[in-house]
Amino acid sequence: MGAANRDPDVFERPDTFDLERPNSGRQLSFGLGVHSCLGRQIAALQLKWFFVALLGRFPGLRPAGEPVWNENLEFRSLRSLPLSLR
Ligand code: HEM
Repeated sequence: MGAANRDPDVFERPDTFDLERPNSGRQLSFGLGVHSCLGRQIAALQLKWFFVALLGRFPGLRPAGEPVWNENLEFRSLRSLPLSLR
């Protein structure tokens, strides 16, 4: 499950962060089928406006080091992500 959005048969260069993917709608973060996430639209709106506000406040936000991932096979999440505000 943790690798579902990184299937190289579905996504070209699956580990590259790419906002322009033509098939980004095939991601499985919100599940699939009859039990897919009921809060999907709310979550997507919150995420959109979170990033709009964050980048509006810190337009120079950039990665400043390697991300450290939690070791959880079910949910992929970050332990730390060094950022620079300038
Ligand atoms: C980034 C935020 C979120 C992610 C990544 C997410 C992800 C998921 C996933 C993967 C499932 C399916 C689990 C399964 O297949 O058993 C799910 C189900 C569900 N989610 Fe979310 N979710 C998010 C936010 C929310 C929010 C904000 C709400 C409510 C306001 C919500 C309500 C639900 C409910 C009620 C289900 C169960 C649907 C069912 O079993 O029929 N989720 N979510």
